Amino acid sequence: MTAEPPPPARPGDTPARPAAAPVRAVPVTTIPVTTTAVPAVPAAATTATTATGPAPGPHAGDRVAIRPETAQDHEGVHLLHTRAFGDDGRVSRLVEALREARAGAGPLSFVAVLDGAVLGHVLLSGCRLDAPRRIVDVLSLSPLGVLPEHQGRGIGTRLVRHALAAAEDTGAPLVFLEGDPGWYRTRGFEPATPAGFRSPSLRIPGPAFQVARLSAHEPWMTGTFVYSEPFWALDCVGLRDPEA
Ligand SMILES: CC(C)(COP(=O)(O)OP(=O)(O)OC[C@H]1O[C@@H](n2cnc3c(N)ncnc32)[C@H](O)[C@@H]1OP(=O)(O)O)[C@@H](O)C(=O)NCCC(=O)NCCS
Repeated sequence: MTAEPPPPARPGDTPARPAAAPVRAVPVTTIPVTTTAVPAVPAAATTATTATGPAPGPHAGDRVAIRPETAQDHEGVHLLHTRAFGDDGRVSRLVEALREARAGAGPLSFVAVLDGAVLGHVLLSGCRLDAPRRIVDVLSLSPLGVLPEHQGRGIGTRLVRHALAAAEDTGAPLVFLEGDPGWYRTRGFEPATPAGFRSPSLRIPGPAFQVARLSAHEPWMTGTFVYSEPFWALDCVGLRDPEA
């Protein structure tokens, strides 16, 4: 069966919507976030040092440690995604479902911590590429979130860099995501459709569908990116149009 090409961008569509985002068709940059300083959540394996003061300065990202998530981080990760995405908990539920599914090669989960608090989180999970030759195990990078009062300090960039290095270590050939191409293109990603990949949904604005080609990628590995079941079960693929 031949799938139809993605539709042209509609007014109000945004390429900046992440796969794990809620379904309202609003740009990421307009998602309301709490700007009031809220105590961050203590990280695992740390003393109960909680960031109760003002957010650190612009270069505080340099002091942030990136490490694998532990069970003690789950509550902090849940709260940070709920605040970062300003949603009803859908993204946090996706994280929980992906942890339980343990699909394919993943998940690989990393937290950014500073002074004992979880400030950011990124998750890689196993998905598939339906290539002409055979099914290929690939990774999805979703979600990525940083607490609102700690954004703009390089933490998200470091989490993406760490995740791509971890993906490279697994031998995965490709990492896919939905997100703002302006942000991701300087962080190892490129538009996926021109690179030979087909989007898993017509509801993903074309430019938002992106891929990072890793060293294990071979030219024959093209085809349709297929999300794992939790993304579909929680309706975390693309944008929904309530007016449709
Ligand atoms: C998207 C998101 C994860 C980015 O995280 P972040 O920590 O704010 O990102 P960074 O700080 O690395 O990068 C943001 C900007 O800070 C600037 N910056 C990076 N390092 C910096 C540093 N050390 N000092 C000062 N500024 C820095 C960069 O200029 C960057 O701007 P650019 O886009 O022009 O390059 C975060 O905004 C977020 O959680 N958003 C809500 C959830 C979401 O939309 N997730 C994305 C799903 S695809």
